Amino acid sequence: MDERVVSQEELVDDGIIDNSIRPELLDEYIGQSEVKENIRVFIEAAKLRNEPLDHVLLYGPPGLGKTTLAYIIARELGVNIKTASGPSIEKSGDLAAILSTLEPGDVLFIDEIHRMPRYIEEILYPAMEDFSLDIIIGSEGNSRNIKIDLPPFTLVGATTRAGDLSGPLRDRFGIISKLKFYTKEELAAIIKRTSRVLAMPIDDDAANELASRSRGTPRIANRLFKRVRDFAIVDGKEEIDLDITNKALDRLKVDKDGLDETDYQLLKAIIERFNGGPVGVDALASSIGEEVTTIEDVIEPYLLQEGYLKRTSRGRTVTDKAYQHLHISYQGGLFGGDGLDV
Ligand SMILES: Nc1ncnc2c1ncn2[C@@H]1O[C@H](COP(=O)(O)OP(=O)(O)OP(=O)(O)O)[C@@H](O)[C@H]1O
Ligand SMILES: [Mg+2]
Repeated sequence: MDERVVSQEELVDDGIIDNSIRPELLDEYIGQSEVKENIRVFIEAAKLRNEPLDHVLLYGPPGLGKTTLAYIIARELGVNIKTASGPSIEKSGDLAAILSTLEPGDVLFIDEIHRMPRYIEEILYPAMEDFSLDIIIGSEGNSRNIKIDLPPFTLVGATTRAGDLSGPLRDRFGIISKLKFYTKEELAAIIKRTSRVLAMPIDDDAANELASRSRGTPRIANRLFKRVRDFAIVDGKEEIDLDITNKALDRLKVDKDGLDETDYQLLKAIIERFNGGPVGVDALASSIGEEVTTIEDVIEPYLLQEGYLKRTSRGRTVTDKAYQHLHISYQGGLFGGDGLDV
C-alpha cells in the first residue's frame, strides 16, 4: 500500500501541521449553512436509527473545506476516520487492505475520488451498496472469486471535479453536497477564529480587508493571515491593523479583489495573445505554462463566479469587468505600475 493512503498529508497546509486552525465540530465550521444544516440532520437521524450515515460526496474548488468537513462528520458521528486518496489506490489489494481495517460505522474518506482507476471503482460499488467485497485472488489460470463481508461504513468522497466521476459511482452516494465560495462576512469570521487560535489579534477593518482579498477561500484566508502576521511581527505590532494588512498584501501581489499574479497572467494572456478570446483551454494552458486541470480546477472557478471570465462553447472569453480591472491596475495605482506586469 502506498504511504499516502494513511498519511497526514491533507492535514498539512502551508507547510505546517494545520490541525490547530481546522475546525473540529459542525458548530465551528463557518458558512456553507445549507450543506452544514442538512448534514447535521442526516447525522442526527443516522445516530437515532443506529445505522451508518449514508455515503457522502463533497465537491467544489480547492481549499473550501471538503477535507475539514469529512473529519467533522466522523467526529460528530463519534467514529474513526480512515483516509485514502484516489490516485494512491492503484491495485484492488490496496482498496481491500483499507476496507478490511474498517470497524462498524467508520468513515472511509477518499480524497480526489475522481482520480481513482475505473476498475477500482467497480470494486467499490458492492462495497458501498451491500457492504461486501468481491475480489479475485490468485494468478491467471488459477484464480478464484472470493466474497468478503464488510462492516457497515460511510464513504465520504471529495473531489474538485464532480463531472469526472462515473455515473454509477455518483449514483451510489446518498448525500451529494456542493461547497460554494465563502462570502466576505464568512471569511472575516474565519479569519477572526484563526486569529484567536493563533493568539494574534486582528482588528475588524483588517479582518474585512483580508476577507475581501481571499478569493472566497478559507485556505487562502488562513494563508494570507499568517503572512500578514509575519509582517506585523517584524514591524513590532501586537495587533494586525489595516495599514499592515494593506502593506503586506500589496507586497504579496494580492490585489483589492483578491486576484493574484496567476489570475493576472491568465486574464492578460487572453487579452493580449488571444484578443480577448474565445480561446480553448489547451492553447491557454500552454500559453501561460499551467496544466489544463490547474486552470479548470484552481484558477478559473473564482474568475468565472466573479464575472471576469466567461466560458462559451468555443472557449474562454474575458469580460468588460476584466478589461476594466486590468486597465485600472496598469495605470499603476495599485502596484506602482510594475507589480503585475507579467
Ligand atoms: N468552514 C470553515 N470554517 C473555518 N475554517 C475552514 C472552513 N473550511 C475550511 N477551513 C480552513 O481552510 C483550510 C482548507 O480546508 P480543506 O483542507 O478542508 O479544503 P479542501 O476543500 O479539502 O481543499 P482541497 O480540495 O485542496 O483538498 C483548512 O485547514 C481549514 O482550516
Ligand atoms: Mg482536501
